Formats: sequence, structure tokens, C-alpha cells
Amino acid sequence: MDVAAFRALEPLCWRAPSAHNTQPWRLRYEPGQIRVGWNPAYALPAADPTGRDLRLSLGAFVETCLIVAADADLPLEYVADHDDPWVGRFRPAPSRYPTPFRTTEVWDRRTHRGGFVGGPDSDALAAVDAVARQAGGSVRTVPHADRLGALLREADRQVYADPTVVAELRRWLRLTPAHPDYRADGLTDRCLGLSRPAANGLRAALAAYPALRRLGLPRLLAAADDPLARGGDVLVLVAPVGLDRTGQVEFGRVLLRCWLTLHAAGSAAHPLSQLVDVAATRTALGTLLDVAPDRLLHVTRVGRPTRPAPRSARRVTGSEHPSAAPM
Ligand SMILES: Cc1cc2nc3c(=O)[nH]c(=O)nc-3n(C[C@H](O)[C@H](O)[C@H](O)COP(=O)(O)O)c2cc1C
Repeated sequence: MDVAAFRALEPLCWRAPSAHNTQPWRLRYEPGQIRVGWNPAYALPAADPTGRDLRLSLGAFVETCLIVAADADLPLEYVADHDDPWVGRFRPAPSRYPTPFRTTEVWDRRTHRGGFVGGPDSDALAAVDAVARQAGGSVRTVPHADRLGALLREADRQVYADPTVVAELRRWLRLTPAHPDYRADGLTDRCLGLSRPAANGLRAALAAYPALRRLGLPRLLAAADDPLARGGDVLVLVAPVGLDRTGQVEFGRVLLRCWLTLHAAGSAAHPLSQLVDVAATRTALGTLLDVAPDRLLHVTRVGRPTRPAPRSARRVTGSEHPSAAPM
């Protein structure tokens, strides 16, 4: 295996998305293989106690690595082999990983929390559903979208009412460029679409959280943002029945393929994970879709952006553009 060639691609692989942009992945180079796992310091035990989003993020990372390696003519395959904190390994393959995607798409894809002019068109919807169906899942548009606003406010209120979740979120917020990790990881004011006064207001509110929690701050924070008013449709990635931990990593790969499919069709995704994190809203969403709540893996607002989203930070630096990568 050409380890040096793969190492040179790491900065491109690191463009994979992850919840709170913690970039939890970890690679260990061993003779004849590269193990893929996670660093517990970058897990989200409060917001993601079951590890669902951790495994989705690791799957998205695996798929990203395979696409980037294939585009660089490195024949690599992934073998799932779950043994905490490892999920599997890359090993040399007889031929390139078959994928319609290229490194430029990995590089250009971004989470988009801003305005959308409309939802994805029917071809894009059919394409992402087909991607999920190949793995035994599906992608569904939420019907009765008018009921989602109340569900989202309730999910946000419950998230903000939990001091451990809020403390963890604060750890990953980068609300001023003066933050030492502003260019390394986490959620920046720019990526969250916050103006300077809004970012300062959120910082102040979260700093006062211990005193104001019982005085209605969670409700106030939940009401402060209404992403659904910024347009698009809300899509749900539905898992097959009984998906285990290895399957969740597989569905992280499916999720990334769905996002790249949307990106190629001119659409972007804005996840709303709180809707499946909170038991009550997850159940309500299951009822709207007529699907068992434990099969709802991921929820995201999708649409055609009115302008480009800012690029999120990453811990490794290196090639600034795919064209600078070894081919
Ligand atoms: C499994 C998963 C869950 C996510 N959940 C949310 C979410 O609930 N809200 C949100 O705004 N972004 C969410 N994101 C998007 C990440 O914050 C985003 O991927 C990260 O900040 C890196 O930015 P990028 O996608 O633009 O590269 C999620 C991403 C993943 C992979």
C-alpha cells in the first residue's frame, strides 16, 4: 500500500462532515492496512449519548477517504471490523473504489444553514432515495411540513434545557474569530450565519445560562432561530429495521453519498439532528412518516442555496485546493 500517497491526501479526507465539526476520526497506519476509528475526546457524550451521530460521521469520513483515494488512483477498499474505538480498516484493493464522485465535490460540499430558493427537484429527490435504497434504507420528504415548526421549537427547547448538552455545545462554539480554535474545528459564527451582534448575544446568553436556565432562557433560545423559514424541504434518512453499530457507520457512508448527490444537483443540506435526538419529537416525526421512530437516522433541511455557504474549519492544514493534491 502506498502509505505516503494516502497520507498526502489526508487534508482532503478531513473535509468530511461531522456533528459539531469535532472531526472525531483517527487513522492508525499499520503494516498493510490503515485502521479507522475515533478519538473519545471528540465524541459528544451529552448531545449524542448513543453514538449515532459519531458513527454517521465516521461513515461519512470512510466514504470521503474512499472517494479521495479513488480520484488519486489509489486502489483502496474498506472492511468493517467494529472493535471500539475502531470501526474498520482500509486495505489495498485490486481496483479503484467505484464512485461517481470526485475530490472536487468533496472539497466544495458544505453544510448550508442559510436561505434556499426552493426544495430539491424531483430528480434529485429520486436520486438520493435511490442511494439510500441500495443500502436497504430510504429518503423521505416530511409531509405536513406546517407541523414541523412546532416540533423544531420543542426539540430546541429540550436541547437548551439540558445543562450538559449546552455545556458541550459551548465547548464547540467558535463565536468570535479570537477563539484559539476558530480555524481548527467546531461551529463558527460565520458557518452558523450569525451577525456580530447575534454572535455576541448568544455568547452572553450562554455565559448567563446557569442563572437564566430556570427563567425561560431555553425557550427564548429555541424561539430565536427559525431555520424552516429559510426555505427548502425537510428530508429524513430512514434506516432498515434493526440497524446495528456497523450498519450506522455504513449509513454514514450513505449519508455522505446523499449529500454529494444533492450537491451535484445544485442543492445543499442543513441537518436538524435535534428532531431525532429528542425522544418526543422523534416519535412525532415517526408518526408523520408512518415509520418506527428508531428507524429515523438523520433529518435535514434541503434546498437550492441563494448564495454560497462559508467553509468550515478543519484541524489539519495542507493542500488548499484539490488541484494541489498528488494525482
Ligand atoms: C451526523 C451529523 C449530524 C449533524 N447535525 C447537525 C445539526 O443538527 N445541525 C447543524 O446545523 N449541523 C449539523 N451537522 C453539520 C455539521 O455541523 C457540519 O458537517 C460541520 O460543521 C462541518 O461543516 P461542513 O459540513 O460545511 O463541512 C451534522 C453533521 C453530521 C455529519
